[in-house]
Amino acid sequence: MVSSLPSLPSVLGTDPSSCILDAFRTAIAKRVSDALPPLTIEQAYTGVDYGKKGVDFTVALPRFRLPGKPDELAKKVITDFQPDDFVSSITHDRQFLHFQLNTASLIREVLNQIHTLTYDSPTGKPSYGTNTSGAGKKLVIEYSSPNIAKSFHVGHLRSTIIGAFLDNLYKTCGWEVISLNYLGDWGTQFGMITTGFEKYGSQEELEKDAIKHLYDVYVKVSKDADSDPNVKVEAAKWFKRMEDGDESALANWRVWREMSVKKYIEEYERLNVSFKVYTGESEVGKEWQDRALERLEEMGLISDADGAKLVDLEKWKLGKAVLRKANGTSIYLTRDLGGAIERWEKYHFDKMIYVVASQQDLHLSQFFKMLSLMEFPWADRLEHVNYGLVLGMSTRKGTAVFLDQIIREASSVMHEQMKRNEVKYNNIEDPEMVAREVGITGIKIQDMAAKRRINNYTFNWDRMLSFEGDTGPYLQYAHVRLTSMERKNPELIPLPPPSQIDTSSLTSSQHARDIAILLGSYPDVVKTALKTHEPSGVVTFAFRLAHAISSAWETLIVKGEEDVEKARARLWLYLCARDVLGAAMRLLSIRPLERM
Ligand code: ARG
Repeated sequence: MVSSLPSLPSVLGTDPSSCILDAFRTAIAKRVSDALPPLTIEQAYTGVDYGKKGVDFTVALPRFRLPGKPDELAKKVITDFQPDDFVSSITHDRQFLHFQLNTASLIREVLNQIHTLTYDSPTGKPSYGTNTSGAGKKLVIEYSSPNIAKSFHVGHLRSTIIGAFLDNLYKTCGWEVISLNYLGDWGTQFGMITTGFEKYGSQEELEKDAIKHLYDVYVKVSKDADSDPNVKVEAAKWFKRMEDGDESALANWRVWREMSVKKYIEEYERLNVSFKVYTGESEVGKEWQDRALERLEEMGLISDADGAKLVDLEKWKLGKAVLRKANGTSIYLTRDLGGAIERWEKYHFDKMIYVVASQQDLHLSQFFKMLSLMEFPWADRLEHVNYGLVLGMSTRKGTAVFLDQIIREASSVMHEQMKRNEVKYNNIEDPEMVAREVGITGIKIQDMAAKRRINNYTFNWDRMLSFEGDTGPYLQYAHVRLTSMERKNPELIPLPPPSQIDTSSLTSSQHARDIAILLGSYPDVVKTALKTHEPSGVVTFAFRLAHAISSAWETLIVKGEEDVEKARARLWLYLCARDVLGAAMRLLSIRPLERM
């Protein structure tokens, strides 16, 4: 259904058909610019911000740098004020003008838009909250990137969680997204494993759990290496043969890699994460690495140190970095340089994001700097999205080394918690699945709730798995409760089309109003997240919405409301809230549950 609001001039960069609050902001901007020539509506629009504490929108007059005192300017806007479909009142407080929206049209329009874009979306897929700002643009995003045969530590988990969010976010904003998992599948550790496999390897163990078995072999052979220097020499030889493309040295490695990837795919699926491309350090073509070295050489940036090649970045306070070892084998940094060039040739991206822990800030700055010194015109399209440490994540059995241990621990802690309420527990159809999903939601929310990614945080199982406070389980619970509304009110289902639902009964409810304006702000929340690359804004939004809904339950009842018109309007409000909460959770890579 199309909006029944009066028409307005269109302001560049706004899109009321996907964000109805844009229309309300435009109406405010029009009032302000009409009263304060020569201010244009576009200029006025940039000054319309969300208000604080119960104020819908606020305009700070000084930012327009108009002649005259703020007081006088404010009076010009307020004089002869007539409420309309957009604005119901304006107040003036020093240099600020505060605007309250027309509640009846706010509620009706927001719900209409959510309904239309969820069930009658022009794209055929629910699209409320999405936008097309990235149409025609391509993002390459690399995240997770664990190392085969080493542990999948919480740093990798954070990269996975934040990366999956950004992956979804860019898609939501219309970008074409190519997600890469850049495995640590190359390097001397594979020489070590090859050396150790004869002694410690078992085909059976390998087939059971390749990730774990290769790790075990690596740990054992590393121990041997501590007492016997020959082990490392042997390992380096093996790796050199691998680098030289010796098929007999590569055969085992190939199998190990493939089996590990298979296992990873299963685990990522649990996390609701998937990658377009599994690549890895092993796949970076030699020619690209050589090209990078040649280019740096030409530019006089490389020096020789005992046969090894060094690049001097002291001038930029980025130290000195080794690019090739004396025996000619490549290293991490060179692979990243070559890899970036190769990805450019392959994808011609508009942007490439690396989601990597801040412990590697120096490494990323070095290699970004080198690419820009090499004068690649696309060098400034690279962006490092970094994040702080997770402290204290260990399972009850000790430090977690594998992703599946973390997932299992979260599920089992959650499962125990659920069993405490026996009656409820017996009603759950698939408690294992629910425990796992809620457990994973707990981990993700705790991770993404931190105001800024860059801050370290301390992992806390108890807090994470509690149903109280701003936790993952609480969000799932809020969603389940909203979903149950349809089941519990079968006599109202299906609801008539929006044009036949009378929302006027909601107008007098502060709760309904609070929920409506929050729902209306969701497209803005998405846009802000794209600018900041912070998931916390979306998490905060989800909690604010869940809180607003839980405060409404008692007064805005559906079951037991005798007036059918009223009951319908309320149910519609809750169902729209469910759809938006669900969308926000999915954006955060969480699978919203329908029952628990
Ligand atoms: N595998 C690396 C590690 O675990 C992370 C890779 C980050 N990405 C990159 N292009 N360097 O430390």
